[in-house]
Amino acid sequence: MPRDEWIEPERIEEEEVSAIFDEANIRPSNLSDFIGQPELKERLGIILEAARGRDQVVDHLLFAGPPGLGKTTLAGIVAQEIGAQFHITSGPAIERAGDLAAMLSKLGRGDVLFVDEIHRLPRAVEEVLYPAMEDFQIDVVLGKGVAARSIRFELEPFTLVGATTRTGLITGPLRDRFGYPFRLDFYSVNDLEQVVERTAGILGVSIDESGAYEIASRSRGTPRIANRLLRRVRDFAQVRAEGHIDQQVAADGLKLFGIDELGLDKVDLMLLQNLCTKFNGGPVGLSNLGISVGEPTETVEDVVEPFLIQNGLLMRTPRGRVATKATYEHLGMKPPPDLDLTASDDIPKLFED
Ligand SMILES: Nc1ncnc2c1ncn2[C@@H]1O[C@H](COP(=O)(O)OP(=O)(O)OP(=O)(O)O)[C@@H](O)[C@H]1O
Ligand SMILES: [Mg+2]
Repeated sequence: MPRDEWIEPERIEEEEVSAIFDEANIRPSNLSDFIGQPELKERLGIILEAARGRDQVVDHLLFAGPPGLGKTTLAGIVAQEIGAQFHITSGPAIERAGDLAAMLSKLGRGDVLFVDEIHRLPRAVEEVLYPAMEDFQIDVVLGKGVAARSIRFELEPFTLVGATTRTGLITGPLRDRFGYPFRLDFYSVNDLEQVVERTAGILGVSIDESGAYEIASRSRGTPRIANRLLRRVRDFAQVRAEGHIDQQVAADGLKLFGIDELGLDKVDLMLLQNLCTKFNGGPVGLSNLGISVGEPTETVEDVVEPFLIQNGLLMRTPRGRVATKATYEHLGMKPPPDLDLTASDDIPKLFED
């Protein structure tokens, strides 16, 4: 389970069931309900409207960015806005080239095929995608050895929407075949405040502006986290504050659930603490850092790290991860006198490409 979804073990069932139920209602289904990311929205809006106007199939789209920023949501919105059938799959789910060929041959004209985690497609499968994306054709090999022959199939024109948390892992040939690669950025507190207010409206939660702001400012720039924290605070408010969320109730509720003022949770704080104490501020390899908090390397890299890097609390260097002055300050510790502060002036870099 991604750390993002992590919840108290004894509450798993109840919270998971209601979360799944809420999820379908709170996910925006058209572009005007999608909050923030103004540039992306404007460009995407134009692309969709132009294709609709010419009655053409929309060019392939790639959405890249950290988890919970709205990639899956946008894929659904694309299909909805152009009135297309929406098909969902994911990179690791397609094991063989034949599986993908079967999937592609079932698509109708203008359908949207969403491939989540597209960087995890096996290479042989990815190669089937190239001619499919470019010329709407696939080559299927029948038989084995000398008797093997390749047959070319024509496909209906379709739109591939890919999502990835790691642009750096997408191969050049695949990336080049997308008409529009989009990058999603972390959301501003103002945008997240709107996300919280919108979700509260849908769930019928009573919240004022100060409460929404408090939750938004601790949501790590991520709508999914904003929605999750709202649910936590809703429970807290129901039991302790007659159901209404204001700034104080939000702050108390989040404190109770172990979320600090920046939105860092237990794992984030433990990781920073280990970096500063066990590893003397680094440089330390990612896998050692992951082991020290009991999380797989990919989770640390995809889920935990991006926000910390963005906020200057962690740095990625060729020799490993390094603490900054801000790391020590956030933990209420004194930076060691020999800390290399020149490195802290570097602009935080989110993606490896
Ligand atoms: N711009 C937005 N406005 C309102 N709600 C949003 C927005 N973006 C995301 N959300 C909400 O955040 C949740 C997570 O979004 P989504 O599942 O699309 O993220 P994702 O980028 O696909 O994440 P992952 O990489 O983990 O698959 C959704 O439930 C959706 O309701
Ligand atoms: Mg997704």
